[in-house]
Amino acid sequence: MRVDFLLTGVGQLVTADPALGEGPLGLVERAAVAAAAGTVVYAGPQAGLPDLTLAEDATRLDAAGQAVLPGFVDAHTHLVFAGDRADEFAARLRGVGYEEALAAGGGIHRTVRATRAASDAELEAAAGRRLAEAARHGTTTLEAKSGYGLTVDDERRSLEVLASLAASSPVEVVPTFLGAHLVPAEFSGARAAYLDLLERDMLPVCAPLAEFVDAFCDRGALTVAESRRVLEAGRRHGLRLKLHANELGSTGGAALAAELGCVSADHLLHLDEQEAKALAAAGTVAVLLPGTSFLLRTGRAAPVQVLRDAGVTMALGTDCNPGTCYCESMQLVVALACVHGGLTPEEAVLAATDGAARAVGRAGRAGRLAPGSACDLVVLAGRSYLDLVYHLGVNLAALVVKDGTVIARDGAVDRGVRGAHGAEGGSPPVDWGVRRAHGAEGSPG
Ligand code: NIG
Ligand code: FE
Repeated sequence: MRVDFLLTGVGQLVTADPALGEGPLGLVERAAVAAAAGTVVYAGPQAGLPDLTLAEDATRLDAAGQAVLPGFVDAHTHLVFAGDRADEFAARLRGVGYEEALAAGGGIHRTVRATRAASDAELEAAAGRRLAEAARHGTTTLEAKSGYGLTVDDERRSLEVLASLAASSPVEVVPTFLGAHLVPAEFSGARAAYLDLLERDMLPVCAPLAEFVDAFCDRGALTVAESRRVLEAGRRHGLRLKLHANELGSTGGAALAAELGCVSADHLLHLDEQEAKALAAAGTVAVLLPGTSFLLRTGRAAPVQVLRDAGVTMALGTDCNPGTCYCESMQLVVALACVHGGLTPEEAVLAATDGAARAVGRAGRAGRLAPGSACDLVVLAGRSYLDLVYHLGVNLAALVVKDGTVIARDGAVDRGVRGAHGAEGGSPPVDWGVRRAHGAEGSPG
């Protein structure tokens, strides 16, 4: 078998495929991973490696006994925005609620104003920096939403930024149209007129740039009827469905997600048994966002036992956004999922890999290390996946590989990214440099 990627010396391999190893994470000790043209051809005991011929320019890596897991899949981000709301966050620490700020014209409305005012280059540079930050922390596939434009031009622009980043960065970007993040202020007296605009003018322009359509179905955002209208219109344009559901209240969003057969229902802080059963029956994945529930400071997380009992597939995401959770690190999210969200470490790691891949329509291809899946992986600076929950506040991604190519090592993305860092306004997008980086360390064997 001819391969162009070989990783040996893996102390603990998380395949995220229970058929390949022990327990729900499919663990294999003293393991190796081999890949050809970006696709895994072998993941298992090193002693069981088949006869391999290494291509001349093969990437040859030694994990030196450390743990290796599939590259993280971030199932929910709002990557494209300008400005920040640090002051709003500080006010929240003093007790000013998220919904209070939104109702006073702050919150999402404020980020919409900043995003509309930003140039294309500014928007792309800002989103690119966040994407590079995610990659440095081990994310190799990331869902990202529009939703801070809320005009035809600004929604299209946000999705074009994502297309441009998808083309220039090694991270796989899954674009979602969220023109229904909110009814923008200028339509506050004419909500139906905004939805008319969304359906008639935005969708034809935005749907070709997106895979999913999403709506913020919640208190102070869209009603169930409005969300239904948007998702059904998105479906007519060929998009698959997601829904922000039951974050701020028990608003009927989860039931709607199940009824419409959404691929995922996200947040779900308020969820009863009936709703969970409906999600399970519909095959809808629950995307949990523990960074957000932690930082909202309501003392509430998604009811994980209700989800378990109903047999709902769980996924994780950062929700990276300027309001509720400004965080690109899936490592931190895995830790918060356990210490705040009540997941076991095994559930959290599975939700951040295989579960999240299911939530973004990449089941089997991303989020697993098994024959046929993408060779996307993280070599941890640690002996076990448990370090993700145990060793907090440091970047444990020693090496990040996407499609068989090293894209980050020791916490720095390979090439170019530093130049874009810190330069606000008009700075060029992150330059990922040569896609084909090499890790020629040691000799084949
Ligand atoms: O997922 N819930 C809606 N959207 C984001 C918050 C966006 C913002 O506050 O800017 C979320 O939490
Ligand atoms: Fe969100």
